[in-house]
Amino acid sequence: MFITIEGMDGSGKTTALQRVKQYLEDLNYKVVMTREPGGLPLSEKIRELILNKDGVGMEPWTEALLFIAARKEHLEKVIKPYLEKGYIVISDRFMDSTTAYQGGARGLGVDYLNELQKNILQGFLPDLTLYFELSFEDAEKRLSARPEEKNRLDEEGRKFKEAVKLAFEELVVKEPNRITVIDASKSPEEVFEQTKKVILEKIELWKKEKR
Ligand code: TMP
Repeated sequence: MFITIEGMDGSGKTTALQRVKQYLEDLNYKVVMTREPGGLPLSEKIRELILNKDGVGMEPWTEALLFIAARKEHLEKVIKPYLEKGYIVISDRFMDSTTAYQGGARGLGVDYLNELQKNILQGFLPDLTLYFELSFEDAEKRLSARPEEKNRLDEEGRKFKEAVKLAFEELVVKEPNRITVIDASKSPEEVFEQTKKVILEKIELWKKEKR
């Protein structure tokens, strides 16, 4: 089963994920957690290229294609092999980030990037995507508490970030069977509980379908 986690930076998704991984492992599931951009050495190099200061002024299409290139490597070399070995794979970000950030906020087109990626990834889609929803103000508050973690895209202004949010919301409406919203404004404990509940429900459903 392939689960992806999406949302604005500062939404607490990584923290919730780490706890869910531990919880599932305690239930004897084999779980691997990975991230995008990144997940293997080549894609981590692409991550550095896009997200550090050298990337300033990069063309929007260059940025989008680098994210997608890193994803293709990650999918073929990490995600699929783990799925074949029976692992639950949880990825901190996946294709919807490109659709929201580059398609929505950079203006390349939400539908266009969504379709383009479905073609490039040859129809491979997450079984479940959790969208961690948080207001711009709350996300900024959390980010300013840990400035050392800020990447090049975190430095973008309100207009950019509101456009990212709008694009994610558009995706939630378009793909309700795949994407579930998590209210990330709640306490870390509540966010963990919501995340755990949705994932456990999906695992149960998935097991029934496999029987
Ligand atoms: P993160 O790993 O801390 O979430 O940082 C990754 C940053 O890159 C984040 O600001 C979102 C952005 N991003 C995109 O713009 N497009 C993408 O396809 C991905 C995966 C991330």
